[in-house]
Amino acid sequence: MPSHAVTDAALHSEGAFPGTGARMVRMAQQIQYRTLGGPEVLEFVTVPTPVAPPGGVVVETRAIGVNPIDLKLRSGLRPSPPITEPRVPGSDAAGVVVSVDGSAGDRWQVGDEVIVRDAAGAYRTHLPADASQLVAKPAAVGWNEAAGIGIPVGTAYQALRSLGVTAGQTLLVHGGSGAVGQAAIQFARDWGATVVATASARNLDRLRALGAIAVEYGEGLLERVQDAAPDGIDRVLDAAGTDEALDVSFAVVDDRSHIGTIVVGAKADALGIRAWMGGSPHPLTDQEQAWRREAYGVAADLIAEGRFEIEIAAVYPLAEAAAAQSALASGDLRGKLILDPRP
Ligand SMILES: NC(=O)c1ccc[n+]([C@@H]2O[C@H](COP(=O)([O-])OP(=O)(O)OC[C@H]3O[C@@H](n4cnc5c(N)ncnc54)[C@H](OP(=O)(O)O)[C@@H]3O)[C@@H](O)[C@H]2O)c1
Repeated sequence: MPSHAVTDAALHSEGAFPGTGARMVRMAQQIQYRTLGGPEVLEFVTVPTPVAPPGGVVVETRAIGVNPIDLKLRSGLRPSPPITEPRVPGSDAAGVVVSVDGSAGDRWQVGDEVIVRDAAGAYRTHLPADASQLVAKPAAVGWNEAAGIGIPVGTAYQALRSLGVTAGQTLLVHGGSGAVGQAAIQFARDWGATVVATASARNLDRLRALGAIAVEYGEGLLERVQDAAPDGIDRVLDAAGTDEALDVSFAVVDDRSHIGTIVVGAKADALGIRAWMGGSPHPLTDQEQAWRREAYGVAADLIAEGRFEIEIAAVYPLAEAAAAQSALASGDLRGKLILDPRP
């Protein structure tokens, strides 16, 4: 047994449910890593089932979203504090409340179906969360879609709000076929904006299906964008982070405060453009964080009404998180990669 795994004795210990005296089997499973590296550092382990934190809940997960930041943190591409104990990746999940503590009971009950925002390690079967992290999942929203809202939808919504995208404007989205890009296209179209979006040739049809004017990235991008938007571009969301995307943005928009990146935040100040995380030294403002929170309910309602789609690329068992992350890194699949924690 690896040193990090718990013993059978711990799994079958008394006291998991204080006051009951019951001998209960406590088992949960999670993906974790103890050193930075490739997907091979991910371990699938059994751990004691967590108890609800004060004023919080435990959510038994039904679906977990895989995001690019999970890979960047695991590999060290995105700096993070030294690892002092096993680190569980992931921020996005959806599931059922199975335990409630204290004041969380004012709002949430066992059996509630919820989406968890900003999870502290979502790749697990039993996820402790603060009551403030929960969003009610409409019954009409599937588990995979619910877990796929998360970071990408929150980011797209906030970035467009920060850019001040409104009806009548023309928005350029670099990386329109990705999880963030697809959400950005749908919000902007819903708000009455015209959207020009970039993708590789194989994904242009998807952009059109979402209501965008589709443009292939690569050599000649500037001319194609200008042809697609003869009256000009008002705002740019960069979800690609390439030099090409930035150069084209500068060529079509004079006011750099109308250009925002979520990928190359570290160099945004030098370029004079806006950035929301993506390595930016500036934390999100309270307003930006509020928009990210607001996005969950807005998107869930739109999905329930059939007016917003979360495209699911593939679903992997939780134990195969390494394969799911490798698939995301390959760029071969389009849409969200989801982990299924159920046996
Ligand atoms: N700052 C934040 O808070 C935040 C939040 C979420 C995501 N992000 C970052 O935003 C980026 C997109 O995230 P995501 O979840 O949407 O990723 P994703 O689903 O993997 O999508 C990646 C997108 O990049 C496009 N792309 C790949 N190579 C490109 C190139 N050379 N030129 C232009 N576009 C290219 C892809 O298009 P094709 O597949 O058609 O080639 C696809 O549209 C990632 O870097 C992620 O880390 C930042």
